[in-house]
Amino acid sequence: MKKTLMIAAAAAFMATGLAATEAAAGAPFCASCHAGHKDKVGPSLASVVEAYGSTDAVFAFLNSDAELEPKVAAFASKAGTMKGQLKKYRGLDDAKKAEVRAWFESEIK
Ligand code: HEC
Repeated sequence: MKKTLMIAAAAAFMATGLAATEAAAGAPFCASCHAGHKDKVGPSLASVVEAYGSTDAVFAFLNSDAELEPKVAAFASKAGTMKGQLKKYRGLDDAKKAEVRAWFESEIK
């Protein structure tokens, strides 16, 4: 129970921080927590691709209705942070999702 509250508080805190950086041109909101080859709030995109096996597999998951089951072990305890982001991503239209993928691929180059 206490843990749940802490996760909720952390998520709320991050959501606030997000608003300030979200307007950054070019990159989607994912960029406030993820970078190609560096761990930030979330794991590096390269380590995510490694855990999934391919970029296609990552996006097959993102574009499905599957529950988030964290695959990058070092970040597993932070799945609560990504859950809300996943919901946000799934609510984007196809054009925005395509922008996310283009950004994702340019980051892991
Ligand atoms: C508020 C910070 C935050 C934002 C914004 C964010 N993420 Fe994450 N993300 C995380 C954290 C923390 C994890 C590690 C926990 C986990 O794997 O679920 C993670 C994990 C992931 C994973 C791995 C999930 C798994 O199965 O292990 C993918 C894929 C991912 N993020 C993609 C994205 C994409 C794409 C966006 C933008 C649409 C995004 N993230 C936005 C914090 C964030």
